[in-house]
Amino acid sequence: MCGIVGYVGRKDIDSVLLVGLERLEYRGYDSAGIASILDGELLVRKRRGKLRVLDESLRLNPLGGTIGIGHTRWATHGDPNEQNAHPHVDCNCAIAVVHNGIIENYAEVRSRLQKEGHVFSSETDTEVLPHLIEKHFNGDLRQAVVSALKEVEGAYAIAVIAESSPDTIVVARHGSPLVIALGKGENFIASDVPAILPHTKNVIYLKDGQVASLTRDSVRIWSPDGQEVSPEVKRIEWEADLLDKAGYDYYMLKEIHEQPAIMESVLSRRLSPSGDVNFENIGLTKQEFVNLGRIIIQACGTSWHAGLIGKLLFEELLRLHTEADISSEFRYRNPVAGGDTLIMAISQSGETADTLESIRIAKSKFLKVLSICNVMGSSIARESDGVIYIHAGPEIGVASTKAFTAQLLAMALLTLYLGGIKWTINDELRKEMIEELRAIPQKMRTILARADEIEALAEKYASVQNSLFLGRGYNYPVALEGALKLKEISYIHATGYPAGEFKHGPIALVDKDTPTVAVAPQGPVYRKMVSNICEVRARKGKVLAVATEGDDEIKGCADDVIYVPPCCDRFSPLLTVIPLQLFAYYVAVKRGCDVDKPRNLAKSVTVE
Ligand code: AGP
Repeated sequence: MCGIVGYVGRKDIDSVLLVGLERLEYRGYDSAGIASILDGELLVRKRRGKLRVLDESLRLNPLGGTIGIGHTRWATHGDPNEQNAHPHVDCNCAIAVVHNGIIENYAEVRSRLQKEGHVFSSETDTEVLPHLIEKHFNGDLRQAVVSALKEVEGAYAIAVIAESSPDTIVVARHGSPLVIALGKGENFIASDVPAILPHTKNVIYLKDGQVASLTRDSVRIWSPDGQEVSPEVKRIEWEADLLDKAGYDYYMLKEIHEQPAIMESVLSRRLSPSGDVNFENIGLTKQEFVNLGRIIIQACGTSWHAGLIGKLLFEELLRLHTEADISSEFRYRNPVAGGDTLIMAISQSGETADTLESIRIAKSKFLKVLSICNVMGSSIARESDGVIYIHAGPEIGVASTKAFTAQLLAMALLTLYLGGIKWTINDELRKEMIEELRAIPQKMRTILARADEIEALAEKYASVQNSLFLGRGYNYPVALEGALKLKEISYIHATGYPAGEFKHGPIALVDKDTPTVAVAPQGPVYRKMVSNICEVRARKGKVLAVATEGDDEIKGCADDVIYVPPCCDRFSPLLTVIPLQLFAYYVAVKRGCDVDKPRNLAKSVTVE
């Protein structure tokens, strides 16, 4: 949820930490703060609101120093104000802590510490940490952190600095992600790779329960049982320039326009000229796939919508019983799952707490886990038996776009791969599917070239307060996705429904001020969609349809139509979602919303 960074080296701390926080601001933007040690004294500066407020304050009056930690906040406990902003300090303002996660037993620990005389100045769960470290400090900062963490329950990634150890940063993680990045004469820590990419590509992913201490020339790591371990250094594939906006106003628009190129690079990486599909680390043997009888997909938000489409693909083409479950429900239901069941986790960030915990539950039941992730080396990827990386590149915009289509492509390719192993897809169908997939990038470009048309339609609908989205079959999840995109960045109340379900209640919401977006490409359910559109129009509802080029009939029953090139039904979501991404984007811009950092949201939900 929150983003934490840390640096020890020779560079000026203010700029290094601010650049790192800027690249993590998609994780939370309620407040920001940094702490450093200068001439043996701990200095702290924090501000309410977006990072630019703290940036302005530091430009006027820098903190200084060459060791420090920083934080950008997504509020969980205590209002988004300066008092609750991180870093938090102990009674003597000699120890500073930044934290990503939730300390669940903080209230009990806090009252115990208050009885022992500790004075608290915030409403946060985090503030118990510097006071616990203060309580346990006996000359060794790392040891004090280890003892302090023994008293807390919950999820955390923390970084700690103290006047007593002016050249050391101590970090620890349990549940929340933390990478250590290795430089020459300098070292970094961060919640996520984008923060350190401008400096180095050599990283260590800290494991759960590990503690590390960093100086400018050394990184030492201890396992949960206190043994010192030699770290596994990984090299990051992403280029730093992927992290800038490339001239677009917002990351979301850049990422929408990146989709054709991503499709092309993934198809050339995974699909051989002869049509063989290759996955480098799929984690199950061919025999295990032959014996596979069931798949339970579990994911959240946009990734769950992709999972709903995966379910249809796997059932239609692999004849595999498949469920697509929301992770926060999956983890608390006791699913009936035998040895022939595969748990598939879909997550762009690879750090979503509910999805991560769900795969741990699955593994505790000895079920195999295959995950579909974007972020390399993320917790979900590392803790799964196999992982399919979607190679969409860094996704910075909080509203997921390119990751969605890349997740769909990954599942389409997995269907081809398993169809070959399970003999459920004959050569003719296989050939047809591969041709359809190879044509997708160009068809996406055709739609993106109509962005102006979609912008004009957004202008027309930008002032509505409520809207409805309808779809059937493969495009019902697209209706859900279109509604999610619109509500999360424009704050218009938007809801997606399976069109056939509409008459069973939701149609009561239809009126002249509540437009309906109908996803109605040519295909086996087209006629039904047309009937649903007419039912809405009969009740004076405005209809914006997404339809297939050449479909003149739909012009007669919809107020507005956005056309997409023809495509087979099962892969049509790769095209029909694009106009909905652009529509939501332009409506949000017209309403003056901060598209990349929508209110109340964060890119990666690392708490329950
Ligand atoms: C989508 O636009 C949202 N950012 C959100 O619903 C997201 O899809 C969800 O939090 C899941 O994230 P993940 O794919 O990183 O697990």
